[in-house]
Amino acid sequence: MIMRVLTGITTSGIPHLGNYVGAIRPAVAASQREDVDAFYFMADYHALIKCDDPARVQHSRLAIAATWLACGLDPDKATIYRQSDIPEIPELTWLLTCVTAKGLLNRAHAYKAAVDANTASGEDPDAGVTAGLYMYPVLMAADILAFNANRVPVGRDQVQHIEMARDIAQRFNHLYGKEFFVLPEAAIEEHVATLPGLDGRKMSKSYDNTIPLFEGGAKATRAAIMRIVTDSREPGEPKDADGSALFTIFRAFAEPDETAAFRADLEGGLGWGDAKQRLFDRIDAELAPMRDRYAHLMAHPNEVEEILMAGATRARKTSEPLLETLREAVGLGRGAVQAPAKKEKRKKKGKQLRMVSFREKDGSFRFRILAADGEELALSRGFADPKAAGACIQEIMAMGEKLAIAPAEGSFVVTLNGEPVAESPVFADASARDAGMDRLRAELAALAAEGKD
Ligand code: TRP
Repeated sequence: MIMRVLTGITTSGIPHLGNYVGAIRPAVAASQREDVDAFYFMADYHALIKCDDPARVQHSRLAIAATWLACGLDPDKATIYRQSDIPEIPELTWLLTCVTAKGLLNRAHAYKAAVDANTASGEDPDAGVTAGLYMYPVLMAADILAFNANRVPVGRDQVQHIEMARDIAQRFNHLYGKEFFVLPEAAIEEHVATLPGLDGRKMSKSYDNTIPLFEGGAKATRAAIMRIVTDSREPGEPKDADGSALFTIFRAFAEPDETAAFRADLEGGLGWGDAKQRLFDRIDAELAPMRDRYAHLMAHPNEVEEILMAGATRARKTSEPLLETLREAVGLGRGAVQAPAKKEKRKKKGKQLRMVSFREKDGSFRFRILAADGEELALSRGFADPKAAGACIQEIMAMGEKLAIAPAEGSFVVTLNGEPVAESPVFADASARDAGMDRLRAELAALAAEGKD
């Protein structure tokens, strides 16, 4: 079975070595698997939540896209796009917002951390908290649900968000009575290393301890490596390999035998300066060819733009039809019956027969055939989903006066391809019933006539 794997990177920074090892490299590898349908995107709407510097968001989007491509992501195989090029995402965000419990969002880690910090410092609990930060998990749920992703590779700090996406999806499915959404699962790659930064803590922009991946060229990467903090042991003294960030970073790039040799040399007294040079050489062997491609793409942003626009077009082949179904499900469908162009005509020509669909308590969908004066002429059978009900309405419209209408007990029945699809209310007697059938035929004919001009 093919799995849809989806993940996003917030476009507020420039990828560093930790992003490469922890997210980019495994994601590119996953995208090459035959059983994976990869959707990878630049989460640029998310960037606005924490960054109000347009130049930075703009540059970051390009740098991240160029990084993915330089690292071997094949845009013919994986679907790569910008969040903000998919209008269905903000649209779905609102539909999901309306079914999301406020209490659920109160419990989100990022929001709670802000509130706790405010409370601790005696501030108003919501001081400096935007509604964007508060709504962050709903936007993220829309990212995932708009494409019905099965697996979402993320860091541990994001697992709660995936659980919220599941919650929200379940709630929507339940409320509107159908499995519109697949329930996504977080995928945490256990064997992927979390890289330490220059100071030995987790490599992270917020600790200012990162090693650049491509930006600044080999010089910048080398300069950062030379700044990795080590202990004060002199050359010739044995080093504690496992206690050193340098060794951990080396291991994330090297084969087991290279790693073993490096360990033996450190324990045998290799000087830190030489060790840093070896680390740089090992990393550079992997990065150098990619760095050239990165430089090329950064110098030719139009090439990146073209790839991203093609990716958005491909992504929307999934999100557009899904949103159409969802709009119908919530009552915002753009059915033929309510098409604005026809409404115009109707106004001019006076009222006409209409078909109006609605949702039953049991989750099924029906429609009523209403005469020009609003009287109910027939009620349809239940349909599993609004699309099926809509299709039946279309067929009835297409049949016009040729629609098959047959007398039943006290009522009449409308059939399509021999199947009963709607039934009239019970009439007082046969002649009232026949009059009702004539009326439906006449109104359908009038409607068909209007459709022609
Ligand atoms: N919130 C994620 C992060 O900061 C980025 C992100 C946004 C994301 N939307 C997503 C990740 C959807 C996975 C799926 O890391």
